Amino acid sequence: MCGIVGYVGRNADDRALEVVMEGLARLEYRGYDSAGVALVTDAGILSDKRAGKLENLRKALARQPLAPSRTAIGHTRWATHGGPTDENAHPHHGGEGDRLALIHNGIIENFHALKNELLADGVEFTSETDTEVAAKLVGREYDRTGDLTAAMRAVVNRLEGAFTLLAVHADSPGVVVGARRNSPLVVGVGDGEFFLGSDVAAFIGYTRNAVELGQDQIVTITPDGYAVTDFAGNPAAGRGYEVTWDASAAEKGGFATFMEKEIHDQPQAVADTLLGRFDEDGCLVLDEVRISEEDLRRITRITIVACGTAAYAGMVAKYAIEHWTRIPVEVALAHEFRYCDPIVDETTLVVSISQSGETMDTLMAVKHANELGALTLSICNTHGSTIPRESDAVLYTHAGPEIAVASTKAFLAQITASYILGLYLAQLRGETYADDAREVMAELRQIPAKIEDLLGRMDRVKEIAYFMADSRAVLFLGRHVGFPVALEGALKLKELAYIHAEGFAAGELKHGPIALIEPGQPVFIVVPAPDTPHELHKKVVSNIQEIRARGARTIVIAEDGDEDVVPFANEVIRVPQTAPLLAPLLAVVPLQVFALHLSTAKDLDVDQPRNLAKSVTVE
Ligand code: AGP
Repeated sequence: MCGIVGYVGRNADDRALEVVMEGLARLEYRGYDSAGVALVTDAGILSDKRAGKLENLRKALARQPLAPSRTAIGHTRWATHGGPTDENAHPHHGGEGDRLALIHNGIIENFHALKNELLADGVEFTSETDTEVAAKLVGREYDRTGDLTAAMRAVVNRLEGAFTLLAVHADSPGVVVGARRNSPLVVGVGDGEFFLGSDVAAFIGYTRNAVELGQDQIVTITPDGYAVTDFAGNPAAGRGYEVTWDASAAEKGGFATFMEKEIHDQPQAVADTLLGRFDEDGCLVLDEVRISEEDLRRITRITIVACGTAAYAGMVAKYAIEHWTRIPVEVALAHEFRYCDPIVDETTLVVSISQSGETMDTLMAVKHANELGALTLSICNTHGSTIPRESDAVLYTHAGPEIAVASTKAFLAQITASYILGLYLAQLRGETYADDAREVMAELRQIPAKIEDLLGRMDRVKEIAYFMADSRAVLFLGRHVGFPVALEGALKLKELAYIHAEGFAAGELKHGPIALIEPGQPVFIVVPAPDTPHELHKKVVSNIQEIRARGARTIVIAEDGDEDVVPFANEVIRVPQTAPLLAPLLAVVPLQVFALHLSTAKDLDVDQPRNLAKSVTVE
């Protein structure tokens, strides 16, 4: 997820660079591993781009100022293809004399094939990015037609995946062209000046008149106005509205907190993590896997090392990967792994899961695994971070930057990436076939829409949270893949509302914890799908009966249509139906929302809870 800004002004004061830099500063939360700008000037395209935070670019521009301009684009990056380096930063250039500059937010799934086509034509590349492929294609089209809008239209009809593109050309001063598919783009309508942005934070400092573009639309802005077409060139219209948020709220997409915004980012986080994982033959592909297929086939054991929420993602992964690959999977808390004399050899795959890629406990576990000769693979959300660099292979999640300390979208992306890894290994080892993997992936592809649907029906969860604001202790029960969901729900409540909360395997209750049940004790129960094997659903319904009989206040997370739970539930929170192994991607959402609202009800700091840090870089 990246921040993009475009600007065209009529004003003689040539403030394009100032406008774009302010927009990037407000969008930096969307990605901050590199930044760049491109201006259209009498001397052609002038651009500068730097790895690292926006401040690095600001300092570079102070040292070497660019000429004034009234047309500019700017980009702050969250790397998806290619690490956070100067060369991979946007903008990228194309066309004769590199007179075109282009920036991009998203993932172009078919960029390998397009890049090979260009390489065969003798085109040279300076970066590893999918974006540079688009820049070369649009530049080549512009050289044919001299029309930037037509060039963009010709190219976007060849792209697959998720993208918002902005382009400028030296020969078209006063013009910025944007296009979007499965990625946001908003027009800002000023007085004699027009803006483009990945969201309104890009221009909230200049205008509140916004026009949101729809799927597969192209927009051309000039000092005289803006024009919208579809990808076929037919006139189209965006959705105009007045931005009522203040600048701070705009950086959170209009939500009150980053956590609430990131909960609502989850459909996109899952969708983006799935993007580009299949090749033309329907076989799974992974990022930057530097482990040979032969070595992957020889794996006899998998050990997942992680901490906190990431460890709970690993626990979900265990059920799925073992089911698909028949390889034994152990989940070890990273800070325990090094000291338990682990059984590891060259046929062990140690999978680390980490949003930040900097968690010291997890990093030290990976280093220990390397010393013991294991194969190491990192599931990580932060390009260029330390843990992927220490690993033999990496599978990036594409959740975008997660600002809130309490992890939400990264958790869902980690689970999604773990499923992809499991299916890949199963396919490689012949434990499952491409069509089986395709079937699971097809159900996975339904998940974003189901999360979106679920997020639209959280009002009752909010009411329950406010009703329970004075709770002293809350219990969470789950079984099978619902067990790590219960643990995650408890962790969210601890982190955000500072309430004692504990997750249990539902079957474990009668072996002691049921002594905790007393009249009025709130208990969340994550109920498996009715069609889960081994009558697990029936067993969990029995567990609900056991605690209800002892006076517990039962809040049940159950699938749409599951009526068996109703007689024993004080509250039923419905989630959409899905395959049993994929259920955590939905069941956890109400628990996230509950913790968020209970924290808000207690007027606590949702995004930066006490005693916590986003990345624990000490052991
Ligand atoms: C989750 O809400 C917590 N912030 C914490 O448990 C976190 O998941 C854990 O510290 C691991 O962080 P990482 O994913 O960056 O390695």
